[in-house]
Amino acid sequence: MLKGLITFRRRSRLLLGALALAVAGLAGAPAAQAADPLAYPESQSWSWTGPFGLFDRGQVQRGFKVYREACQACHGLDLLAFRNLGQPGGPEFSEDEVRAIAADHQIEDGPDRQGDMFMRPGSAADRFPSPYPNEEAARAVNMGSYPPDLSVIAKARHGGADYLYSLLTGYRDPPPDFVLQDGLHFNPYFPGGQIAMAPPLGDGFIEYTDGTPETLENYARDVSAFLMWAAEPKMEERKRLGFQVMIFLFAFAGLLYLSKRKLWRDVEH
Ligand code: HEC
Repeated sequence: MLKGLITFRRRSRLLLGALALAVAGLAGAPAAQAADPLAYPESQSWSWTGPFGLFDRGQVQRGFKVYREACQACHGLDLLAFRNLGQPGGPEFSEDEVRAIAADHQIEDGPDRQGDMFMRPGSAADRFPSPYPNEEAARAVNMGSYPPDLSVIAKARHGGADYLYSLLTGYRDPPPDFVLQDGLHFNPYFPGGQIAMAPPLGDGFIEYTDGTPETLENYARDVSAFLMWAAEPKMEERKRLGFQVMIFLFAFAGLLYLSKRKLWRDVEH
């Protein structure tokens, strides 16, 4: 009985010791590991925030130029038609500019009388053509990764335009102990920290004609604004309508109050 008690006490001391070691190990573990290399999107100031915020025409026009010259080769804009570029609330290109942009794209049409498909220059009513015939073809030339369509990417990703901006400006050297797969690029804003897209932008890559400095940051900000507009082309209309509805409700509430006073005058006096 006594012997049993002694061995029990010895065992429990051993157990306690092991527990203390484990706790110490756990507490020490984070210090031994590197800090988490992933980062949250940094919030930027955008022209369209707030109930009255609108798109900056010049910015979305420049953003379209960036998309066209630096992204379109790999990313489609399936949901957007060329004529949208001329509609109010967006880049508002003139009719001639829209026609020229459309004609610059080859669109598959047909079948003709022989039953063959053929290519023709685009018109304002056409949608942006996809850069690849199908997803498999896209993956085949991008090392198995799929460059997503960008029509609604600004709405489809947590962080929206802030995320796009951070992603495009976020390429850097990986921390020393980060295991980077072959052919991938370190980007702390992309889930997992490695992305198959090589940095698509850099200082001086695209020519701006309005005097805006040709920096990576400006390209990233402008193309993010353009993609935000592409994801919600009717944003300005929505805000304008919302404001008109508020004015109407305000006036209507005033009228209701006056008629209530008139109707109840005899009762109250
Ligand atoms: C050479 C081809 C190529 C070009 C050019 C390119 N991308 Fe990509 N992009 C890719 C590929 C491939 C992926 C998929 C990456 C992955 O899944 O690892 C991708 C992914 C993305 C994503 C998705 C990130 C996510 O959260 O899923 C965004 C946004 C993006 N690209 C934006 C752009 C923008 C904006 C441009 C132009 C400034 C651009 N890309 C130019 C190939 C390209």
